[in-house]
Amino acid sequence: MRITIFGTGYVGLVTGACFAEVGNHVVCVDVDGDKIARLNRGEVPIYEPGLEALVARNRAAGRLVFTTDAAEGVAHGRFQFIAVGTPPDEDGSADLRHVLAVAGTIAEHMEDFKVVVDKSTVPVGTADRVRETVAAGLAERGTQVPFAVVSNPEFLKEGAAVEDFMKPDRVILGTDDERSAELLRALYAPFNRNHDRLIVMDVRSAELTKYAANAMLATKISFMNELANIADRVGADIERVRIGIGSDPRIGYHFIYPGAGYGGSCFPKDVKALARTAYDVDYTPQLLQAVEDVNDRQKHYLFSRIREHFRGELAGRTFALWGLAFKPNTDDMREAASRRLMESLWEAGARVQAHDPKAMAETRRVYGERPELALVDSPEAALEGADALVILTEWNLFRSPDFETIRERLSAPVIFDGRNLYDPEILAGLGFHYYAVGRPL
Ligand code: UGA
Repeated sequence: MRITIFGTGYVGLVTGACFAEVGNHVVCVDVDGDKIARLNRGEVPIYEPGLEALVARNRAAGRLVFTTDAAEGVAHGRFQFIAVGTPPDEDGSADLRHVLAVAGTIAEHMEDFKVVVDKSTVPVGTADRVRETVAAGLAERGTQVPFAVVSNPEFLKEGAAVEDFMKPDRVILGTDDERSAELLRALYAPFNRNHDRLIVMDVRSAELTKYAANAMLATKISFMNELANIADRVGADIERVRIGIGSDPRIGYHFIYPGAGYGGSCFPKDVKALARTAYDVDYTPQLLQAVEDVNDRQKHYLFSRIREHFRGELAGRTFALWGLAFKPNTDDMREAASRRLMESLWEAGARVQAHDPKAMAETRRVYGERPELALVDSPEAALEGADALVILTEWNLFRSPDFETIRERLSAPVIFDGRNLYDPEILAGLGFHYYAVGRPL
């Protein structure tokens, strides 16, 4: 089948490469000429396990093409996927400028029936606006060409996006149009084996399903962070509590890890946007607001503990940071807990020596060269002469370190662990001051 994808970010690129992998012909369009040039040289601008090989293989086979030429893109695909960004506006609502611009472009060039697929995370009602935009564009040209608009939200996790696309838990299709439902069923057939994972529903419910899923997951995390803060104060161990409650299948073990606050491009943005949608329809979303507030406070948690430990005297100190990315297996720094912490430390006059297996180039891009930030080649190098070690991302590399080396290289044996990686008793036995989240010292 012939597919066109607008937007070559995480979602667009993974979607395009995975559709090509099962034999489709995919054209990916982006307005960013540099990005397209890089992709055409075989460079994949993001780190995502398995993606580079997938892009290389399918480019070489001629099934995956990158272009800035929107007309070529529109002419190519029966399916026109919109996978461009929806950054938050100042009031937290999703900015639909890029989505609607693509809808306009499709209308400008289409000559035959198209299924326009909203893949970007967009507020309820966006499919209607896309439909109106395409219709208005066609009317402007004085033509009538049939088209359908479908909502097909993505559920890819960064760091496992290729795997999630190839073996989805579910594929949500929001459409009122029988013909496009059948076409999309055929398109997703290679990823829909063993049992039917396709869930077809009306467009608005599909749009809301995406936000509901992310908001539910974010709620679980904020709930656990709240409990961790209570555990701190009553002398309980949140890790024991986590294991205790997770054994109830109605609660489950997934996504109940307390930590330094959730980050990434999705949860913070989507919780805000869903709250905004609620306000827009005159409903006060008390729970969503609390989920966001708790997360905001949690991003400050480690800094508060650091400040307490050093009695407010942070100026001139150096902190070793392990982990910069918002989670392991990605180089993504968006809304990462490390950012808030580093900025607070700098403001207090401290320096940071950091190591991350993938996100150092991205950190450099975000913060540039500055004397208060040293990015070093190994976890050990980060420790050299530092006043304490702070752990922000649970990369496997950090799970079983040589504590002897840590003690020797730090100027004092102090660890602030935002991911609860170690056993407090063992660390106390080794002579460390070990601060974790929601665990007794
Ligand atoms: C999230 C969802 O998990 C995907 O299903 C969704 O498709 C995606 O957003 C999206 O909307 O595009 P992602 O942002 O890649 O995926 O990251 P997650 O793995 O969900 O982690 C988000 C944040 O929550 C991370 O900062 C992580 O450290 C934190 N987290 C996660 C916790 O603090 N505790 C947990 O128990 C789980």
